[in-house]
Amino acid sequence: MSLQKKVKTAVFPVAGLGTRFLPATKAMPKEMLTIVDRPVIQLAVDEAREAGIEHFIFVTGRNKAVIEDHFDRQFELEETLAARGKTEELELLLKDLPQAGQSSFTRQQEPLGLGHAVWCARNLVGDEPFALLLPDMLIKAQPGCLAQMLETYEQTGGNVIAVEEVTPENISRYGVVGIGETIGSRAFQISSMVEKPPVEEAPSNLIISGRYILQPEIFAEIERQDPGAGGEIQITDAMIRLLEKQAFAGVRFSGKTYDCGDKVGFLAANVAYGLDREEFGDAFRTEIETILAGMKS
Ligand code: G1P
Repeated sequence: MSLQKKVKTAVFPVAGLGTRFLPATKAMPKEMLTIVDRPVIQLAVDEAREAGIEHFIFVTGRNKAVIEDHFDRQFELEETLAARGKTEELELLLKDLPQAGQSSFTRQQEPLGLGHAVWCARNLVGDEPFALLLPDMLIKAQPGCLAQMLETYEQTGGNVIAVEEVTPENISRYGVVGIGETIGSRAFQISSMVEKPPVEEAPSNLIISGRYILQPEIFAEIERQDPGAGGEIQITDAMIRLLEKQAFAGVRFSGKTYDCGDKVGFLAANVAYGLDREEFGDAFRTEIETILAGMKS
């Protein structure tokens, strides 16, 4: 039996405007952009469900109502599929849904930063540890990244952050951690953190990959927060303060991250997930090879 309080809640900040994907995101939330045939947000929810999460909290904003619809029943569609004998499609639709009462939605009314978005979920989370998943960072891993982090959490408790190496030219796009004492083969104590440092000031080449397990004391730290990098209320700044009182473990998970906030990352994710599909992966591979061969000739 684990001594740690179980992580049953996950927060998904989905209030961002998605300006990098205009015009696709003019009337549609960026989290509904698809990786093959699953919205980016669905993949993050899949990862959380696989890790045993039972409460899914979405911090949305204006023009995001379709995310709420996506996680609801759609009776007209269900009846049509049933009438047409499309039982497999129907089963798949229902399988993706959180159960009744498992989802909560709240709004971040102003775009004040990621820390502020998380703080908007404080009353829904309550006095419990919770997972935080940034859906833009799509992590293809088996088992999923959050499930891997929970293995470390079972040993360490406290706060846990997924980290990975990036090349020097990408460091300043992310939060970066300092490496302390080793915990296991994949985990270590985080000794420091800094949000989007210039590469020469980064404490390591390990970035914060958009998956966190946090203790509820983080909310008090966010509340005292002044705007940080980019003039925004940053979750990293709140974590730096909490690091003075509580332990943070970094987990080098095994898997591949696609930063879907970036066009190349998003396109690469579609290729990787497409090639993986049993039904058409081979046909897709042939198409890609044909395109590449055509470009060479
Ligand atoms: C946020 C975090 C950053 C983290 C990144 C991962 O930044 O503040 O520490 O490395 O997510 O995607 P954002 O992408 O919101 O600018």
